[in-house]
Amino acid sequence: MTRWQVLATVGLFAALSVAPSARAATDGPAPPSIEFSFDGPFGRLDRAAAIRGFEVYRNVCAVCHGLRYMAWRNLAELGFAEDDIRRLAADTLVLDGPDDTGEMFERAGRPSDPLIPEPFPNAKAAAAANNGVAPPDLSLKVLERGAPYVYGILIGYEDPPEGVDTGASYYNAYFPGSVIAMPQPLWGEDVTYADGTAATIEQEAHDVATFLAWAADPSADERKRMGLRVLVFLLVMTGVFYATYRRTWKPVKRGDDDL
Ligand code: HEC
Repeated sequence: MTRWQVLATVGLFAALSVAPSARAATDGPAPPSIEFSFDGPFGRLDRAAAIRGFEVYRNVCAVCHGLRYMAWRNLAELGFAEDDIRRLAADTLVLDGPDDTGEMFERAGRPSDPLIPEPFPNAKAAAAANNGVAPPDLSLKVLERGAPYVYGILIGYEDPPEGVDTGASYYNAYFPGSVIAMPQPLWGEDVTYADGTAATIEQEAHDVATFLAWAADPSADERKRMGLRVLVFLLVMTGVFYATYRRTWKPVKRGDDDL
């Protein structure tokens, strides 16, 4: 292995480790430029923001958007204690059944119940209630489009320009095609944050995008930490192998340069 090969190997590993984990789709307007704590290989989830985002999601978005893959017990990953999770879940009513008589019944929630229950009985009912477009499940939206896209949609409502007829829908500068069936969900002060943060539209949009980034990829931090450990290991091993190589071949090279 020449010095260049060693350098190329190290460079390749470095490049791979910095590659973005979420690839945003490219169609539609460019999302606003906003930085998130979890950007890049050294970025980590801002848990406080994710918890505030959960408050926003629960109080505003949950009316229309499900979150299929998250159960109450997943909140442990955001630092919630088991007891608190049990108590929070028990404060909700869950439709269960049918029981032995064929009736559905309501019971207190459990940690294994969905964090956000499906808001509509079926897709047709969801569409009928929302200008003919069913609100999509947002579980994986950040993986699909990136957190800045979600942020952009939430702050992107404007009066339609002259001559644009949005019908029963709305004008949104960051939505592909600009006409969106979702009415503006955030206006500022939609929630009162438990940690005292001022609930401006931008803050709420940032927090709910952070929450959705966590929901889409809860183990991202762990993976990045592991990736860095692997990278350091590989760098050290590359150095060790290179040193060994030099020692092994040194006498041979010194003896005959044409070898
Ligand atoms: C009154 C119902 C309603 C509420 C409340 C609501 N949404 Fe929506 N949302 C919709 C509908 C309907 C669509 C589909 C819009 C379309 O395709 O024209 C949508 C679309 C979206 C999209 C774009 C999805 C895509 O496929 O590109 C995002 C992101 C989104 N909503 C996020 C949120 C967030 C975050 C909240 C809470 C702050 C929220 N929504 C609250 C009804 C709602």
